[in-house]
Amino acid sequence: MPATIIIGAQWGDEGKGRAVDWLASDADIVARYSGGDNAGHTLYVNSEVFKLHLIPSGILHPQAVCVLGNGMVVNPVNMVKEIDQLSAMGIDVTPERLMLSTRAHIITPAHITLDSVQEKARGDQKLGTTLRGIGPAYLDKIGRKGIRAGKMSDLENYLEALTQAIEQTNEQLRRDGLPLIDLDAHLQPYLEAAERLRPFLADTTVFLNEQLRSNAQVVCEGAQGTLLDVDHGSYPFVTSSSPSVGGALSGLGFGPKYVDRVIGVAKAFSTRVGSGAMPTELEGALAQRLRGTGENFWDEFGTTTGRPRRCGWLDAVILRYACAVNGFTELIITKLDILSGFEELKIAIAYQIHGERSDYPPSTMEELQHAQPIYETLPGWSEDVSGIRRMEDLPKNARAYVERIAELCDTPIYTVSVGPERDQLVHA
Ligand code: IMP
Repeated sequence: MPATIIIGAQWGDEGKGRAVDWLASDADIVARYSGGDNAGHTLYVNSEVFKLHLIPSGILHPQAVCVLGNGMVVNPVNMVKEIDQLSAMGIDVTPERLMLSTRAHIITPAHITLDSVQEKARGDQKLGTTLRGIGPAYLDKIGRKGIRAGKMSDLENYLEALTQAIEQTNEQLRRDGLPLIDLDAHLQPYLEAAERLRPFLADTTVFLNEQLRSNAQVVCEGAQGTLLDVDHGSYPFVTSSSPSVGGALSGLGFGPKYVDRVIGVAKAFSTRVGSGAMPTELEGALAQRLRGTGENFWDEFGTTTGRPRRCGWLDAVILRYACAVNGFTELIITKLDILSGFEELKIAIAYQIHGERSDYPPSTMEELQHAQPIYETLPGWSEDVSGIRRMEDLPKNARAYVERIAELCDTPIYTVSVGPERDQLVHA
């Protein structure tokens, strides 16, 4: 069966772009299925850093066709910028290689303004969104008043819908005494972006199904992570889409009969950006050690917002849950190299909540806030692991750490990354 789905097993930023980049080397198609430019995938190839927000990481592999699926919300102006940036780096980004679903939804300037206005109104209950207009765009989609990308093929109609959306939001802003959106300043860039993007529009659902029927290898690239899923995540501190396995099928429009592998990507420790409980969060020197200084692009600072990420010990409770929600067939563990030099390492194996032990995260935020991790302590290792390529060559304690993750999640480990370069992978 030809489809492999790649999903973040934590709160996003697990290194999915890197996993996709590796798996895409023999893929025919790489398709993104959810979210928008709230995502940030950093890739490091031949000493060059590529930061992608919308276009799938597979674009760096010349044989792969990249798809932005119907489940996505797309800022067309930013998509054009990304196409231009990649083209300037010598990457072929033509309509033969990149397709935008006519059913994807457009992020308008109104959505971006509303994202900021709503965050401000939340006061000290902020969600910590990326301010890219993601939530308001999905709200309009579900409310059946969104603008689909396909509308860009009829410019007059598209501009009318865009104008109407901005004017409606301006009415609301006027009522609330807030600054209005400058309609004229936005229409021209949106019009230009629509003209540029029209050749990329396609019925990607039909395309993908035809390709899957003829056995094309499709890698589905997840954004965000399972704990940010609007259904399965730590609600309400989540994104507004479904980054988990169901979202892949509905966000691309094909059935489970084509799915062969569902690979979870998990960092060897925990990170989170934005608000919401994080039971294994660390502070002080240990957190700083995991985060890095920000000098390296792989340090724990947001690709999209630059915010320092919250860091903590590995949380096997949420990993176990992500394995259950998605039915992972295997796991990819990233950034094991960062753990070299710790005398000992902790893994949360269960939570204590109001005196009761729980092997899974609770469904309410209140309970998650009260969850006390029950830790298991493992001995660390001092060796540099970045040059290791075979599991049996890892230091004994590093191998035991990886094996313990597999055991706690009852899911096999497929590969482990030990550095930012394409080939810095340890295989079983
Ligand atoms: P939104 O997706 O911009 O609405 O943000 C909602 C929550 O998801 C916030 O806590 C963001 O920090 C988080 N989030 C969204 N996209 C990403 C991502 O790609 N990586 C990590 N966190 C993300």
